[in-house]
Order: sequence, then C-alpha cells, then structure tokens
Amino acid sequence: MSGGRKDCMGNELDDFVNELQEQIYEETRNAYGELAFERWLHMRFMGSMENPDGYARVTGKCGDTMEIFLRFEDDRVKDASFLTDGCGSSAVCGSFAAEMAIGKTPDELIEITGDTILEKLGGLPKEEEHCAFLAGETLQEALSDYMIKKGNRKWSMICDGKE
Ligand code: FES
Repeated sequence: MSGGRKDCMGNELDDFVNELQEQIYEETRNAYGELAFERWLHMRFMGSMENPDGYARVTGKCGDTMEIFLRFEDDRVKDASFLTDGCGSSAVCGSFAAEMAIGKTPDELIEITGDTILEKLGGLPKEEEHCAFLAGETLQEALSDYMIKKGNRKWSMICDGKE
C-alpha cells in the first residue's frame, strides 16, 4: 500500500470520527441544553478540599454518590467544590451547585435546591432530573454540617467563658 493511499484512508477515518463526534455533541446539546453542554465540556469546581468548613456525602436512590465541600469566610461561602461518581448530569449539577453557592450566606444557601439548579439549567431530561436533586440535597447537607460545627464552636466558646 502506498503512503498516499494510507494518508487518504487516514483522512477519511478522521473525517468519520469528527462527524460522529459532532453528531454526538449536537444530540447532547439538544437533549441537555447549551448551559449544561458547555459545562460538561469544560467542567468547573470539580475536586476535593482540605478541611472544608462544610462537607457532605450523599448517595442518591440511583446509587450514585455526590460530595460537596464548602469553605466559609465571614459566614459567606468563599470556595466550593464537588465530586461525584455519577453520570454526566450529576457532574453538571454538582458543578452548578458549587458555583451557585459561592458568595452566599447560610440563609441564601437554603434557597439552592434541586429545583433552582434545574431552573438555572433550563431543565434536564425527565429521567435525569433526580441528578439535580442529589446535588441540591448534598449542598443542603454540607450547609447543615457547617451550621452544626459553627454551633459547636460557639457553644465551646461560651463554655470557655470567651463569649
Ligand atoms: Fe445517578 Fe445521575 S444517574 S446521579
């Protein structure tokens, strides 16, 4: 086989793969919406955090797990991140839960639920809506963890006579 023919076949294969990828991207974009699709391509806020002020790990009914890490400064979320072993939608929802949490006080964090994540994304396919609820629930659990730790700190300061 000549080099030219090999190159030609290589190009055809590349074109085929590119077309296939474009088709998959197009279908994903149509099913999940532009915002979710872009986030899926360029994931943000994914990763763990050392000594978070608020942390939760929740396993959803589907069997997938979500973790959310919150760092607070002056009672506002300074940094947030997530990890999941779940589907692409759970990663997108965890990413938006973290993004939406940054800059918020505990009172404002209460407002971030599966519904608000779905609203932000403009919805998800029906069978994947639960991924947003898993992210919302994990965020609320991480907030509870922060509130409990904060309460404990305050309590020990009172006990130590520092307050
Ligand atoms: Fe389990 Fe998406 S299918 S979180």
